[in-house]
Amino acid sequence: MFKPIRKAVLPVAGLGTRFLPATKAVPKEMLTIVDRPIIQYVVDEARAAGIEHIVFVTGRNKTVIADHFDRAYELEETLKRRDKNAALELLQKLRPSAGSTSFTRQQEPLGLGHAIWCARDIIGNEPFAILLPDVIVKAQKSCLAQMVEVYNETGGNVIAVEEVPEDQTDQYGIVKLAEGQSGHAQKIAGMVEKPALGTAPSNLMITGRYILQPEIFGLLSGQETGAGGEIQLTDSMLKLMEDQHFTSVEFEGVSYDCGSKAGFINANLAFALDDPKLAADIVPHLSELLGHKNAAE
Ligand code: G1P
Repeated sequence: MFKPIRKAVLPVAGLGTRFLPATKAVPKEMLTIVDRPIIQYVVDEARAAGIEHIVFVTGRNKTVIADHFDRAYELEETLKRRDKNAALELLQKLRPSAGSTSFTRQQEPLGLGHAIWCARDIIGNEPFAILLPDVIVKAQKSCLAQMVEVYNETGGNVIAVEEVPEDQTDQYGIVKLAEGQSGHAQKIAGMVEKPALGTAPSNLMITGRYILQPEIFGLLSGQETGAGGEIQLTDSMLKLMEDQHFTSVEFEGVSYDCGSKAGFINANLAFALDDPKLAADIVPHLSELLGHKNAAE
């Protein structure tokens, strides 16, 4: 038996400049997909994988995230008095219990590797998960739960990957698989953060879901800056690979990069169309819009 994955780190310090002015006063993680903020989907995914404690690495102007995961006592009392039981139960179901969240601040925007390093004391000496909240994954079984299943077989470090078009490999971390592998979980032989176009070792991008061993923190402590002048998690993972094994998981499900406008809108459509009542209203309108668009072309 390998040590269980009990804690997850969610780095939420980013400024969200791509969504200005929406993100001037509202953190990008609080933008909504249908009826709940992006960050709720990510927390739900973590909890569905058995995560017991969530560490948010935050920054200034992010306190509303802590409020969102707190108990809204007055609101709950009002809902109770008004017999709004379904809404009350939903709020209670989605809220992590008291003491199962921690918040620490990154203080300086030095990169993803630095954000994760800021959680070192709260994680301590045990393997943990990382979920990047720009990405939400729509799946029957939570993406992290699929990774935990693989981890329970392999131990070590596990990273979710998926194929990306060749002309986008410079936007992500890209992994190289070991030779002669097959199946949805494979041994990783190398990785590189945001390789220049034409130099990527494969078209498999790192999706933003990781299970890592705590030795990563020592490596992050001394990590020099990499791609984009930032302290990159990928660079420290590559060093950790000299001593420990890394397994890739090609998960079942669809990921949406909600850090981009198209990804965010696609996620809204995909989740909305899952709700039959909403779909009944949306589909005719979408068809009408597409009809107009096609006619104009
Ligand atoms: C980060 C990681 C990158 C990963 C990506 C997934 O990059 O550094 O390896 O592929 O998330 O979204 P960022 O999007 O922060 O530039």
